[in-house]
Amino acid sequence: MKGLALVLAAGKGTRMKSSGPKVMQSLLGKPMLWYVVQTLTQVLAKDVYPVVGYAKEQILAYFKDWDLRFIEQEEQLGTGHAVQCAWPLIEEQKVDYVLVINGDTPLVQVEYVLSLIQAIRAGYDLVFLSLELADPGSYGRVVRDKDGKVLKIVEAKDCPPDLKTREINAGIYGFSIDFLSKTLFQLTNNNAQKEYYITDLVQLAIEQGYKVKAINAGTDKALLGVNTLEELVEQEEWLRKQIIKKWLKQGVLLRSGQHLVIGPEVELEPGAEVEGPAKIMGKSKLTKTAWIGSYVYIEDSFIAGKIYEFSHIVGAKVAPGANIGPYARLRPGAIVEDMARVGNFVEMKKTVLGPKSKASHLTYLGDCEVEDEVNIGAGTITCNYDGQKKHKTIIRKGAFIGSNTALVAPVEIGNNALVGAGSTITKNVEDNTVVVARAKQVVIRKKRDELGAKK
Ligand code: UD1
Ligand code: CA
Repeated sequence: MKGLALVLAAGKGTRMKSSGPKVMQSLLGKPMLWYVVQTLTQVLAKDVYPVVGYAKEQILAYFKDWDLRFIEQEEQLGTGHAVQCAWPLIEEQKVDYVLVINGDTPLVQVEYVLSLIQAIRAGYDLVFLSLELADPGSYGRVVRDKDGKVLKIVEAKDCPPDLKTREINAGIYGFSIDFLSKTLFQLTNNNAQKEYYITDLVQLAIEQGYKVKAINAGTDKALLGVNTLEELVEQEEWLRKQIIKKWLKQGVLLRSGQHLVIGPEVELEPGAEVEGPAKIMGKSKLTKTAWIGSYVYIEDSFIAGKIYEFSHIVGAKVAPGANIGPYARLRPGAIVEDMARVGNFVEMKKTVLGPKSKASHLTYLGDCEVEDEVNIGAGTITCNYDGQKKHKTIIRKGAFIGSNTALVAPVEIGNNALVGAGSTITKNVEDNTVVVARAKQVVIRKKRDELGAKK
């Protein structure tokens, strides 16, 4: 059986009261739509098609590197209309079933998607997921007869006051192609919102004798749709806790879990330790030898060493045995090799700090290549930018850079060279030489009356 999935993502999200399309609102740094597409592609590979409309450029730009085909719903006339817009594609793909998932249900899991497909395989024509909520709020209500058989879904705005049910529609559906081709264009917009509701397909199915199944997922928070900012941060918080639990179970020691944020794409090896509070985001990886102190921010970085408190690390690589911080800043392209040391108030960008080399205090290294066993004194600055271009600094093995040195790039310091403190180096320094480039100390005796005045 061949199927495809549509992700409904064309709406504005008026209830968010924010600009941009709702499905691009993010949880732990990733848009809601990213989660849904990610989950669906695990099951259906390339057969996942987001339906976009409102501010679609933003969505297309975000997913530009993905092999995804988007469907356009120019005017947002309702969730049923969104599926109608995809009808030419559905016909072209010659599928046996169609899944439809609201793009604002970010945390739906693979198992649920599989359960829909299973029901279709078992001969159901329409299957959807439902939830039990203490307060059904603005969600569509599932209406059953006295024997518990599903009759229809009634939207909150069309709901008669005497309809008392706590079972709501999660907005995640499966349809057989036979059913969909017969009923999709029978939808009307005779309702409070003057919209074509996908949910009306349930009543059409019942009336026309199709097999309908509601899979009741109990109170699983993963299936809650997100309409407001309040719901967004609630779902984010729930996901955050799930991620912490998952890693703890796998042998990663995460302390102060209540103040720890770990993004969904982060990879942690058992044995890694995080003190928390901390934020570890993007495609970061911590290996089994990594140790992260409190108040650290890490993004898109590979960490095998120790990161001390209050360090900020983005796009960097830290080898095992390397120590960073406290108060260090590693920017994209910073590579700290084995047993190297980066101390407080040191900033590195596009710079390799070789094995056993040290930059312990108050230093800027930009566009710099530092070989092994180099000592960079406090206050050393690479002057890498001339106002137009960036230039490189190379510091060879065993060199010693005295404190408060300015290295005006492009410049190279040779093996075992020693640069005297306070130097401004503008020319290459040869191997095994000592170089001092600073103003000579001058002694001037004070005049007699000046000495008197001081007394
Ligand atoms: C919808 C369901 C409701 C269910 C709830 C679950 C309908 C009519 N109602 O309500 O039964 O309980 O989800 O979360 O479907 N969209 C489009 N095009 C449109 C309209 C919406 O693509 O013309 C997209 C939106 O961007 C959104 C999704 O469809 O991602 C759901 O739309 P939304 O307006 O949020 O529906 P709800 O009122 O939440
Ligand atoms: Ca919604």
